[in-house]
Amino acid sequence: MPKNFYDKIPTHVAIIMDGNGRWASKKGLPRVKGHEAGIDAAKKVINIAGELGIKYLTLFAFSIENWGRPQDEVSYLFSLFDKAISLYSDELIEKGVRVKFMGALSLLPENIQQGIAALSSETANNDKLTLVIALSYGSRQEIVDATKAIALEVSQGQISIDDITIDTFRQHLYLPELPDPDLIIRTSGEKRFSNFLLFQSAYSELYFTPVLWPDFDENEFDKALLDYSNRKRKFGKL
Ligand code: FPP
Repeated sequence: MPKNFYDKIPTHVAIIMDGNGRWASKKGLPRVKGHEAGIDAAKKVINIAGELGIKYLTLFAFSIENWGRPQDEVSYLFSLFDKAISLYSDELIEKGVRVKFMGALSLLPENIQQGIAALSSETANNDKLTLVIALSYGSRQEIVDATKAIALEVSQGQISIDDITIDTFRQHLYLPELPDPDLIIRTSGEKRFSNFLLFQSAYSELYFTPVLWPDFDENEFDKALLDYSNRKRKFGKL
C-alpha cells in the first residue's frame, strides 16, 4: 500500500476496536480468545500506520465503562495488556513509535501502571508515529476533569472566566498536544461513539464497518483510508 496511492492521508486516526467477543463466539471460542486475536489485529494496524506516515494512531483499548465487565474478563484483559507491553516494547522502540496512554490511569493495576510509565518514558523521544492507547478512558470524565481544573484556576485567580476559550479547554484534556482525529473508525457494525473523544471529534470523519476487530487487516484499513481520501472536509465552511 504505497502512501501516494491515496489523495490524502489522515494525520490522526482513532479506532474503536469492537467485536472481539462476537468474533470468538462465532468460532465457538471463549471471549478471551477474541481479545487475543484483537491484540494481533492492533499490531498489524500499528505497523501499517507507521509505514504510511500516519502521525497519530489512537486505539480505544479499555473504556471506563469496561470496568463493569465480569471480573475474570477484566483480569484476563489486563494480563493480556501486560504481556503485550513486555512482548512488543522492543519492537515499538526500534520502529520509532512513541507510546502514550490516556485515561483514568490511577485506576489501573499497579503492574500495568508501572509498565505503561516505563514504555512511555522509553519511547518519549521517538517521533515516527505516536501511538495513543486509551485505557480506562471515558470522554465525559475527561471533560469533567478539564472543567474542574479550569474552575480551580479561576477560583485561585490564575485565570479569569473570559480567558476560558476552546483552546484553554483543550489545554486541560488528558493529552493536550494530541491533534483532533481526522478519521474515526469503528468496527463490528455498531454506530456510536461510546464515550470516546467527544470533544475532539467535532469535525472528524467517521467510518463504520461490519468487520469484527480481529478480522480488521491491511485490506480493511486500506478501504477505510481510501474512503477517507475521497471525503470533502469543509469544517462548516464552503
Ligand atoms: C472490544 O470487543 C474490545 C475491547 C473491549 C477491549 C480489548 C481490545 C483489545 C484486546 C485489542 C487490542 C488492545 C491493545 C492494547 C492495543 P468486545 O469485547 O466489546 O466485543 P463484543 O462487542 O463482540 O463483545
